Parts: sequence; C-alpha cells; structure tokens
Amino acid sequence: MKKTNEMNRRGFLRAATLAGASLCASPMLNSAKAETASIAPTPSSPAMVKGKRTLGKGSAAFTVSAMGFGCMGLNYHRGEHPSEEACIRLAHEAIDRGVTLFDTAESYGPFTNEALVGKALKGYTDKVCVTTKFGHKFVNGVQVKTEEDSSPANIRKVCERSLRSLGVEKLDLFYQHRGDPNTPIEVVAETIAGLIKEGKVLRWGLCEVNADTIRRAHAICPLTAIQSEYHLMHRTVEETVLPLCRELGIGFVPYSPINRGFLGGLINEYTQFGPNDNRQTLPRFQPDAIRQNTRIVEALNAFGRTRGYTPAQIALAWLMRKGDFIVPIPGTTKLAHLEENLRATEITFTPEEIQEIETAVAAFPVVGSRYDALQESKVQK
Ligand SMILES: NC(=O)c1ccc[n+]([C@@H]2O[C@H](COP(=O)([O-])OP(=O)(O)OC[C@H]3O[C@@H](n4cnc5c(N)ncnc54)[C@H](OP(=O)(O)O)[C@@H]3O)[C@@H](O)[C@H]2O)c1
Repeated sequence: MKKTNEMNRRGFLRAATLAGASLCASPMLNSAKAETASIAPTPSSPAMVKGKRTLGKGSAAFTVSAMGFGCMGLNYHRGEHPSEEACIRLAHEAIDRGVTLFDTAESYGPFTNEALVGKALKGYTDKVCVTTKFGHKFVNGVQVKTEEDSSPANIRKVCERSLRSLGVEKLDLFYQHRGDPNTPIEVVAETIAGLIKEGKVLRWGLCEVNADTIRRAHAICPLTAIQSEYHLMHRTVEETVLPLCRELGIGFVPYSPINRGFLGGLINEYTQFGPNDNRQTLPRFQPDAIRQNTRIVEALNAFGRTRGYTPAQIALAWLMRKGDFIVPIPGTTKLAHLEENLRATEITFTPEEIQEIETAVAAFPVVGSRYDALQESKVQK
C-alpha cells in the first residue's frame, strides 16, 4: 500500500515533468510527445502515515503514528477556522490515513478546542489517542497571562474537565503546558503520579522545560514526552533537551513543526493575519521579518525542486530524521495539506542531504524572535 503510494507519487512527478517538458518541446518532436502521452499521471491514492514510533519507555511507553495532528488551529490561533462539521471531517480523514495521535489543550479556545476534538474523536478512542495540557491560569474562564497554575488542585480540576470535554475515561497523555514558578516540579510529578495511580491519566509530559526540570520530574514519575518548539528555524532543543531525551528514553514531540505555517511557503510580507490569529503579534511574523526569512523558504524550495518535495515536507522529514523518538504534530485545516504533510513520513534523506539542508538554511540568520517578551519569559532556558 505504502509502496504503491510512493510509486504513484514518483510516477506522478515523472509524468508531470515529462508533460511539462512536452509542452516546451518543438512541434517536430512528435514521437517524444506520443511517448509522454502514454505516461499519464495515475490518480494518486490517499497519503498514509508511514510507520509508528514509541514515545517514552517502560511503563511510560506510548506507541503512536509517526506523525500526529495538532488540533489547535482548527478553531484557535490560526486564521481560518472551518465549520465544526468540516473540522470533524478532516479529523476523520486523518484517522483514515493512519494518524493515531491528536494534540489539544485546555487553553486552546479556551476549552472549545478540547470540546471539538472530543466530538471529532467520539467512537474512535479505542484506536486513536488524544493528548491535552494543564497549567495555564484561568479566572472565570479568562486566562491570566502573567501567571501559571500547576497547583495540585488545579491539575486535578483540569484533569476532570478534560476528561469530560474529551468524553474519555482516561487521558492518554497529560502535559504541563508551561512551568509554574510557585509549584516545584516535584509536586507536579507527585500529583500526576497520583492521577496515574487512580487511573485517570495514563502518561505525562512537559512543554518548554530545561534539562534540569526534566531530570527532576522524570526521577519521580517517568515522563513519556517533552513537547517543545522545534523546527529548522528554531533548534535550541538540540543543545541539551534532545540529548537528554535520548539518554533517558523520553520521547520528543516538536510543536509548530512548520514554524506556524511559515515553512510551508505560502506566507509572504503581504499576508494579513486575522484578529484571532496570534501570528499577527509575533515578532517573526511582522512584514520585515517575513521578507528576510523568506530566503530560508527559498533555500528549501531549491533543495526540493529536483526531488519533488515541498518546503513543508522537507521541514517535517528533516525533523523526523533527527531521531526515531521524535513525532511532529503539524496542524492544518486543509485535506491537501494533511496529505502533503503525511507524505513526509515516506521521505528519507542521506546524511549529506541533511547537511545540505542545514547549511542552506544556516546561510540566512533567522530574523525576529518567536515569541513576545511575556511568552518568552515562560519558556525555560
Ligand atoms: N505545547 C505548546 O506550547 C504548543 C504551542 C503551539 C502549538 N502546539 C501544538 O502544535 C500544533 C501545531 O502547531 P502550529 O499550528 O502552531 O504550527 P504548524 O503545525 O507549524 O503550522 C500550522 C500552520 O501551517 C499551515 N500548514 C500546514 N501544512 C501546510 C503545508 N503543507 N503547506 C503550507 N502551509 C501549511 C496551516 O495552515 P492551513 O490550515 O492552511 O493548512 C497552519 O496555519 C498545534 O496544533 C498544537 O497542538 C503546542
């Protein structure tokens, strides 16, 4: 099946190349034209996720599709929000294509993303998993952006609400979204250990934490995954976090793996982000930064042109080749992008190609920080 997909893709690209060449060919080359006509593109079958990966080990092990689906943008922080019906249909398309990992959080919406995901996955939770997150502070349903809350009482409250919103009996993986300076990580780990003992939570993880926090947390309750930003334009985790995950057998889930869409190549300095789209406030998505960073996308385009890969596919395949304990969770609202992204699970690079990509990207220093000062203050260094 997968082989067939690959062959169809190659066949399609070959046919498209030949068809393109035939358009440019001189009218005298009738025999060449006849030959290309016989290699018509075959209808391509749906993209499927290739393979599974295991995040964490021992009692914390979690085996999921090699690529997951980040659900946030379906109705939060990314411009276009399709109807609920369309989102649910897209989630089902992802399941049909072998995706078993869906990521959400209490704070997406807030609350509405979990509710949407709960509806979308109803009837499927015996074969797919959903991960969600606690830790932001809410008062009367409004996020207090200057504070975090990982107090045991809040973790338990969020757990109960997430179970209800998602319509499940156990949370497959419960992440802390951001560290809470008022609650030591040991207290968080012990609270989660209690929830695991009670059968409400199966596994846990942390987002945007440093190596010290990971070690302390893991010593009390084994971690399944770290979820932090990681892509070709943000590689900080390579310094200490990824080596530690490898050492301790903890999985890694890169969030915003296409750099919030930027590495997909469809954003330029004229792109208008809607009022619900947080990219309008992010320094890296201001017109001047976009203009300069576009050179990075052009470098990916140059690499992909002769190989038949899109920049999004190169970005995702590059991440996946960084370790077999890595499972990216790109988000999309479009079936075409879902398929394009899933096909990246079939792409392999030689070490020379990885080097070529990294050298090409490194030629253009990234302009603009990924977060504003408040958000940046919440990620551990
Ligand atoms: N733990 C955390 O703190 C944290 C923070 C942020 C995000 N996350 C998680 O990570 C997931 C993904 O993050 P994200 O949505 O910020 O970033 P992303 O996956 O890097 O990018 C999503 C954006 O890329 C576009 N896109 C997707 N595929 C594309 C393609 N092939 N070509 C061109 N554009 C494409 C999407 O637009 P279309 O809809 O038009 O395809 C969407 O706007 C979220 O859903 C969430 O679950 C976690």
